[in-house]
Amino acid sequence: MKKIYIAETGKKIGEKVTAAGWVHARRDMGKIIFIDLRDSTGLLQVVFAPNNKDLLTQANALRPEFCVQIKGQINERPEKMRNPNMITGGVEMLAEELEILNESKTPPFELDKDTMSVGEELRLKYRYLDLRSERLHRNLLLRDRVVGFFREWLRGEGFIEVETPTLTKGTPEGAREFIVPSRIHSGKFYVLPQSPQQFKQLLMVAGVERYFQIARCYRDEDQRGDRQPEFTQLDLEMSFVEQEDILELNERMMIDMVKTITPDKRITTLPFPRIPYAEAIEKYGSDKPDLRQDKNDPNELAFCWIVDFPLFEKGDNGTLQAAHHPFCRPNPEDMELLDTDPLKVRGWTYDLVLNGYELSSGSIRIHQRELQDKIFRMLGLEEETINSRFGHLLEAFEYGAPPHGGMAPGIDRLVMLLAGEPNIREIIPFPKTGDARCPLMGAPSDLPPSRLKEANIAKDV
Ligand code: AMO
Repeated sequence: MKKIYIAETGKKIGEKVTAAGWVHARRDMGKIIFIDLRDSTGLLQVVFAPNNKDLLTQANALRPEFCVQIKGQINERPEKMRNPNMITGGVEMLAEELEILNESKTPPFELDKDTMSVGEELRLKYRYLDLRSERLHRNLLLRDRVVGFFREWLRGEGFIEVETPTLTKGTPEGAREFIVPSRIHSGKFYVLPQSPQQFKQLLMVAGVERYFQIARCYRDEDQRGDRQPEFTQLDLEMSFVEQEDILELNERMMIDMVKTITPDKRITTLPFPRIPYAEAIEKYGSDKPDLRQDKNDPNELAFCWIVDFPLFEKGDNGTLQAAHHPFCRPNPEDMELLDTDPLKVRGWTYDLVLNGYELSSGSIRIHQRELQDKIFRMLGLEEETINSRFGHLLEAFEYGAPPHGGMAPGIDRLVMLLAGEPNIREIIPFPKTGDARCPLMGAPSDLPPSRLKEANIAKDV
């Protein structure tokens, strides 16, 4: 099948071409039938003229979402019929041959209109149809362009992309983890990573120096508009850096991304304001202040850095808890306070906030065994727990671990804000419902007892 993309038809005036796609809409004008043919690149008006009776009869059978292939001549539209809102608005195809490749049942909701008002359950059950709608298709394209931009940009800065395991062991970053039973090791479990945090630090010990990954992360936590149980981070880590290097690189990357991918957007303040955590709380009552000048302007992007987070928070019954995660390096200026007034110690940790959302967070890490050991102890971990959970990391630090740090912008939140969407479900191709289900696949689901026994989570079949 030799077809051209609809977006190219504007350059084919006077030529006979074959296009293929789906019937987006159909308009009967008495003896003429018009259809809007849709493919992954756009819409093309196709005319079935009265002089070809057989073809017109065939076209009469067309219904929305039929999958078709049409051959015909591309003509310029008469002046009055041009549509400046369509990329192919200046042309149309005069149909000569029509082949119905596959019929379609009537879709459960209309795809030539915005599907936002359709119930979530229905949209997610028929996600493959929802993704045909213009807005969701546009979101897929934007996500692809954003991710593609980051990949290329980071490679240009000397980063390499490394994949890290998703069957692993827990890492304490605050969220509950999904657990996966081991078949081979009865009674033992893998967990799905909440982020590649420990692996990226180990990659620094491995001499990678500049790592990134489009990393899938899993967190078994309650849902919100900006949270899903699985989501994607642009995970980064660099060796031989201080906080300033990471802020500079991330700021430059975000500015270049906005200029290249969404040039109509305006960044409110450059360079991004840097606000110490204590000041943000005092001034805005939040560590995620929304600094947009006009909250109704869909093209405004107000980035700001929140810096100088406390290293610890007060946990239950007076214990210390890691404010970000336990691998963050204390600010060198506050090192002495570790023993005297730990709650006053600032971490070398930072968040990037965009329009009131936490877009990204990161830190300079601890790279010396002694200090990491001390922080674990301050967090109330017993020697045995430290060794069983983190012995591998502490040991790795003893083999010339370089100073390192990084951060991890959330791709879903970023694309949500660039697309002006109200939640990340509109940006994730196959998201979960608010109660963590996938109505399309029917996950989570029951398993036959034999499978449970095999996975060592049920004893008798
Ligand atoms: P953190 O836990 O702050 O840091 O996550 C980094 C970014 O990931 C996004 N994010 C989420 N997006 C959608 N759904 C979720 N449930 C969700 N949770 C987090 C946010 C957030 O800012 N390892 C550290 C990073 C580091 O220190 O380098 C980490 O994961 O955009």
